[in-house]
Amino acid sequence: MGKRKKRNGEILTPIEIASSGAEGQCIARTDGKVVFVEKAVPGDVATLRIIQDRSGWMKATIVELLEKSADRVDTFCQHFPVCGGCKWQQMGYAAQLRYKNQQVRDALKHIGKVEVEEWLPIAAAAETKHYRNKLEFTFSNKGYLEIFDKGNPDHLSVQALGYHAPGRFDKVFDVDSCYLMPTLANDIRNGLRDLCIENAISFFDLKEQTGMMRNLLLRCNRKGEWLVVTVFAKDEPETISLVMDWMKESFPQIVSLHFVVNEKRNDTLHGLETVCVNGEPYLTEVLGNRTFRIQPKSFFQTNTEQAEKLYSITKEFAGLTGTELLYDLYSGTGTIGLFLADKCRKVVGIEYLQDAVDDAFENAKLNGISHASFFAGDMAKVLDEAFVQTHGKPDVVITDPPRAGMHPDVLARLLQMEADKIVYVSCNPATQARDLHLLSEKYDVLKVQPVDMFPHTHHVESVALLGRRG
Ligand SMILES: C[S@@+](CC[C@H](N)C(=O)[O-])C[C@H]1O[C@@H](n2cnc3c(N)ncnc32)[C@H](O)[C@@H]1O
Repeated sequence: MGKRKKRNGEILTPIEIASSGAEGQCIARTDGKVVFVEKAVPGDVATLRIIQDRSGWMKATIVELLEKSADRVDTFCQHFPVCGGCKWQQMGYAAQLRYKNQQVRDALKHIGKVEVEEWLPIAAAAETKHYRNKLEFTFSNKGYLEIFDKGNPDHLSVQALGYHAPGRFDKVFDVDSCYLMPTLANDIRNGLRDLCIENAISFFDLKEQTGMMRNLLLRCNRKGEWLVVTVFAKDEPETISLVMDWMKESFPQIVSLHFVVNEKRNDTLHGLETVCVNGEPYLTEVLGNRTFRIQPKSFFQTNTEQAEKLYSITKEFAGLTGTELLYDLYSGTGTIGLFLADKCRKVVGIEYLQDAVDDAFENAKLNGISHASFFAGDMAKVLDEAFVQTHGKPDVVITDPPRAGMHPDVLARLLQMEADKIVYVSCNPATQARDLHLLSEKYDVLKVQPVDMFPHTHHVESVALLGRRG
């Protein structure tokens, strides 16, 4: 058989964008093949250029938009589409919700092969902008715009403070205005960039590993208080003081001001000392009737309003009566277990990170909860037979794993523990569906409710209630 001729560069016209598939990709079909189309909206009719041709699928870009989808709206951000953040902003919010809902349904049907007894409508976000409570920005002495503005050197942005360009660890584009956090984030970031330029403080070179300014981390709570961490590449007290004094004087909203010196090659703050120079070393946030302490490195759901909704749905699904032993798997800083603690006899949480477990104990203390314990380690290892013997077989399990879902050993343990109910909170419908398929050996899926934590992205959270048969 001869070699198949690749169709790269070929023009397809007119093609209708049929739907949105996994990972938010838009899908068209031609000659029996799926075509993934960038920057499209389902319902668009367009002329496409094939950029990648594989045996089972193709990738294409829009050359000309012939007919706009009824779901298309004007984009609101000047950094679209260079930024990988709010990629779905050219689609109306109602349509985004429709496709997120569909994503969860398709995953449970095609990957999970499970019947769902009751579907609850997706919990929409009341605020579709300024909804995040945390962002991280990177300094770079080689701005990304040069790639887009090759023919227009006036627009070169050499010193950038912004986000990594999608898929480019070494390229950062300069952010002037971002809609993800409350607008003070823009003032802090832009003010800091200007201060550094005015005082000739060098921006980090990601390849050469030279320069002074590395990262900026911002967190805020619903009261309008801010925690700010500036990451420097070197321990230069004069520069550090200049930046810290400026922050302190310019932004009274910063109630927790920190810096870190990071001399490593990578940007993670793991293992580095965070120095608090002003205010408390943490922010506090209230969810339901619980108060949580958030330190610079703590994990905390990034959309506070929707996290409260997510936890309320989880609580409702768990249907606790006050007598239950509750396991909170992948417990992070203990937020879900503590949110539910007033309705059960005992909470047992397991979480990989020791720092998060320490925070969970602090959070329990802060809320006067003495019937919750948390254990650190890899779930597949910690949740063994001896652990279950020591702490007891749970009546209800809450599980909230990372995107990769649960390890097969953890799934096997869940089947062995035979809790009456499992509430599976997931940020990845595909791995949730895979895990539900395995759990269907003993469990029925009673209810599912998708939750939109991240408007203008394809990401969707899904809460599933499983009931044990028999
Ligand atoms: C999606 S977060 C959920 C956190 C928490 N339930 C919340 O709502 O804030 C997943 C958590 O699982 C933890 N994790 C990831 N892999 C793990 C593992 N192998 N064993 C235990 N915990 C793990 C992460 O550190 C993270 O805190």
